[in-house]
Amino acid sequence: MTEEIVKTALSKVMYPGFTKDIVTFGFVKDINIDGTAVSFTVDITSSAPEVAQQIKDEATAALKDAGATAINCNIQAPVMPKESSSQGKNIAPQVKNFLMVSSGKGGVGKSTSSVNIAIALAAQGLKVGLLDADIYGPNIPRMMGLNGIKPEVTGNKVMPLKAYGIEMMSMGALMDEGQALIWRGSMIMKAIEQFLRDILWSELDILVIDMPPGTGDAQLTLAQSVPVTAGITVTTPQSVSLDDSRRSLSMFKKLDIPVAGVIENMSGFIAPDTGVEYDIFGKGTSAPMAEEFDTKVIAEIPIEPSIRTGGDEGKPIVFANPTSESAKRFIAAAASIWATIEEINANGGVDNKGVQPTTPPGVSACSTPAPAKEAPKASSDESCGTGCGCH
Ligand SMILES: Nc1ncnc2c1ncn2[C@@H]1O[C@H](COP(=O)(O)OP(=O)(O)OP(=O)(O)O)[C@@H](O)[C@H]1O
Ligand SMILES: [Mg+2]
Repeated sequence: MTEEIVKTALSKVMYPGFTKDIVTFGFVKDINIDGTAVSFTVDITSSAPEVAQQIKDEATAALKDAGATAINCNIQAPVMPKESSSQGKNIAPQVKNFLMVSSGKGGVGKSTSSVNIAIALAAQGLKVGLLDADIYGPNIPRMMGLNGIKPEVTGNKVMPLKAYGIEMMSMGALMDEGQALIWRGSMIMKAIEQFLRDILWSELDILVIDMPPGTGDAQLTLAQSVPVTAGITVTTPQSVSLDDSRRSLSMFKKLDIPVAGVIENMSGFIAPDTGVEYDIFGKGTSAPMAEEFDTKVIAEIPIEPSIRTGGDEGKPIVFANPTSESAKRFIAAAASIWATIEEINANGGVDNKGVQPTTPPGVSACSTPAPAKEAPKASSDESCGTGCGCH
């Protein structure tokens, strides 16, 4: 028996539900051969016992055919995530907790924060997904070093990409680079729903969702489709950014989403040569705003050139330089967010029934009176804000 023979035999075993085999997927690890005795591990993404059993049976049969006499197939499957106590509509039930990363303004560091928080949560031992729901400017693939990589599509289901211990999907990975899409309100809603429904996420402890800036259709659709466990707002310290961040925090309130904190980004500047910290946009200005909304600042992230280069080069700072000041602050913020989520779940979780569209099935929300709970106004003014999807 050689490793080559083992791999050739195992490449006949298709991953259940896919037309690709377990070797090509890269799931086969730790092959050990002793004469005609073979042991190996298959690291799979599903915790469904029938998937594990099917792979084990087919792998054993394929190796027997290839001449192996003793076969030890060790299936490594993800453990079922910790239960969440959240209720209401959830079109992605394999995900136990959802974190919405929002900002009032664009360019304040939402995507940078989403990527680094997601990697820091995974480093805590959690099973983490990262959804780039910023359909206008999907930057996450570049920041994760996954630019240009196309995901596996089977039927209408898509396998998430993987990097730095997390699963990721983005509109940027589904369309050609630089391609512009003009989004209408109903298209945004459909895109967000499809992202949640048709991506083959593993059983995740938490899905971190990088939203487009503002408070519009994407935010409302997300809140109606899944029980969002918590939200964070990313802001920069200037007053103009803080004004917009208030809108973002008040949106969380209207959507019944508990707030897990505020990240003040570009808060001071650490000179790379001397390590001295300078004030550029101001610093510490977000705390009074956080207090107004009964929450706290969970990180003040300084401007650090390596954050930008890390983003451009696809090497997020929490992974590339975990002992840097910014990485330490992202890691602490992630720990604080998870503690808040555990507390929210211990207290009964969240429920999104209060933000569901109020029209009966088949009736346009646009021809009915205003919904019982006033939905936040879409920034684009393209939608009535009910999630009706009809315009
Ligand atoms: N603390 C920081 N220090 C240095 N550069 C930073 C910092 N935070 C973000 N950047 C850089 O600023 C730019 C904007 O950040 P990012 O893309 O994360 O913002 P965003 O809020 O997601 O923007 P958009 O609204 O366009 O999606 C990026 O080039 C990023 O690398
Ligand atoms: Mg972004």
